[in-house]
Amino acid sequence: MLADERINKLFEDIYLPILIAHQRAFLKFALGGPNEYTGKSLREAHAKLVEKKGLSHYHFDSVAEILKESIYEAGIEEKTCNKIMNYIESTREEILNL
Ligand code: HEM
Repeated sequence: MLADERINKLFEDIYLPILIAHQRAFLKFALGGPNEYTGKSLREAHAKLVEKKGLSHYHFDSVAEILKESIYEAGIEEKTCNKIMNYIESTREEILNL
């Protein structure tokens, strides 16, 4: 994501180690694992990005595309990939504060 010109501006000024830990814990929980997520709600976490940096469908679609490529490359079976991508799609309204 940081190498992708479509979205990397939105990650400037963000302290990455905490973000990465939160995202990992969140996705683990969202996909049926134990709840170790202690971060903000998705709506709250992205509100400033929508307001100040214009976070939009374009960015959401770019992130979803990168995630999809990554999980397929990692050799995760198709059924699980579909489950992950369906979940990601279901977060769109919250992420974009719609
Ligand atoms: C596709 C679904 C997405 C999920 C499941 C997701 C998940 C998360 C989570 C769990 C956090 C951590 C909240 C916290 O630290 O309390 C976060 C923060 C963040 N996300 Fe997302 N995100 C998504 C989409 C996006 C998109 C499309 C962008 C921008 C291209 C983005 C950029 C960020 C940034 C910059 C932060 C840090 C905000 C801050 O610390 O102020 N996210 N996201």
